[in-house]
Amino acid sequence: MDITAYRQRRERFLQSLQAGVAVIATAPEQVRNRDSHYAYRHDSYFYYLSGFDEPEAVLVLVAGSEPRSILFCRDKDEEREIWDGYRYGPEKAKEVFGLDEAYSISQLDEKIPELLGNQPRLAYLVGSEIDWDTRMLGWLNAVRAKARTGVIAPEEIVDARRWLDEMRLVKDAGELALMRRAAEISSAAHLRAMQKTRPGKFEYEIEAELLHDFVRHGARHPAYTSIVAGGANACVLHYVENDARLKDGELLLIDAGCELDGYASDITRTFPVNGKFSGAQKGVYEIVLAAQAAALAAVKPGAPWIAYHDAAVRVLTQGMVDLKLLSGEIDGLIESEAYKRFYMHRTGHWLGMDVHDAGEYKLGGEWRPLVAGMTLTVEPGFYIRPADDVPQALWNIGIRIEDDVAVTESGCEVLTHAPRTVAEIEEAMRHA
Ligand code: GLY
Ligand code: MN
Ligand code: MN
Repeated sequence: MDITAYRQRRERFLQSLQAGVAVIATAPEQVRNRDSHYAYRHDSYFYYLSGFDEPEAVLVLVAGSEPRSILFCRDKDEEREIWDGYRYGPEKAKEVFGLDEAYSISQLDEKIPELLGNQPRLAYLVGSEIDWDTRMLGWLNAVRAKARTGVIAPEEIVDARRWLDEMRLVKDAGELALMRRAAEISSAAHLRAMQKTRPGKFEYEIEAELLHDFVRHGARHPAYTSIVAGGANACVLHYVENDARLKDGELLLIDAGCELDGYASDITRTFPVNGKFSGAQKGVYEIVLAAQAAALAAVKPGAPWIAYHDAAVRVLTQGMVDLKLLSGEIDGLIESEAYKRFYMHRTGHWLGMDVHDAGEYKLGGEWRPLVAGMTLTVEPGFYIRPADDVPQALWNIGIRIEDDVAVTESGCEVLTHAPRTVAEIEEAMRHA
């Protein structure tokens, strides 16, 4: 493992913190039923700073003239290791992860009040786990209880996200390499899903094809629950039942991406179940594709974050007028948000360790400018529910095209490469 990146992140964070102590806990294990747990997923902030993937661990970072990184983790335990597998234990973890000190997690209540004594500020992930908020306040009170011995408790509590979100927003070369690989695996899985789709199959059969491809490439988990939505289901934005039968003549919308070594990918493709777009489907698809092209052209350093959404909305709104779904001036339809009847979500979000990644979208009330190294999705859509004022040929067409991009010095790099145009999709499905 290359621990340099984690060490550098801790150093940068400590420089920002300037003085005081940060306490960053990893995520708890989650029970699925009785004594079975969900697959463990670390807390992204904790992992970003440590690279340590065991549950029951806390990172304490002490700022100031002698900065220190201290890990609290599970002890070695032969009995538990026979049942559940390897544990580093503090001694080995300190060495492997390049920390200054490491202790048993059982010493947390004793050590943290000591570490907080005479420090001006405490930084942690305020409000992420109610249990942690309670424990933090308990430790603060434990320090206050020592006031008569001259020990002073931190006067200031700050949210560590203030600095960590900004750091996570701009990816380093190692992160970009991982995200490229995650995107590559997911792209191949979407191609496989297209090629396995046939009228009569169930949505979950196609979901299985995606998961198969993720796992066999070492990406053991999807970054979020896969949406495999045939026909009208595509107009339910967060459809995850995935249990309907696919019909000839319908479209299939798949929104699925793997997580690889803690980094997400997020792709949507929409394609005909029988491999050939109908005229009406193609008409709507080309509008969404044009909206995506306009949005991609607007992703460049210096552009305000919202610019690519605005670019997509303009093309989609024009398309709605061309299809006679809306009438009036484009500017007015955008101003009044009339387009939201058929396009009700944003054109993207930050992407990284979390599928909807950390980071503010506005700074001081203004949309923040894009910077090289930021990663985001570009995902225009068009969703047409049945209604008396909508031509029947367009009913239940739901289309989204979603790709992942990294902002570069001159524009953006598209990380995802599944078939995207009508011709590419039909060609890929012909060669199934
Ligand atoms: N798959 C979640 C999203 O597209 O935002
Ligand atoms: Mn997305
Ligand atoms: Mn998505």
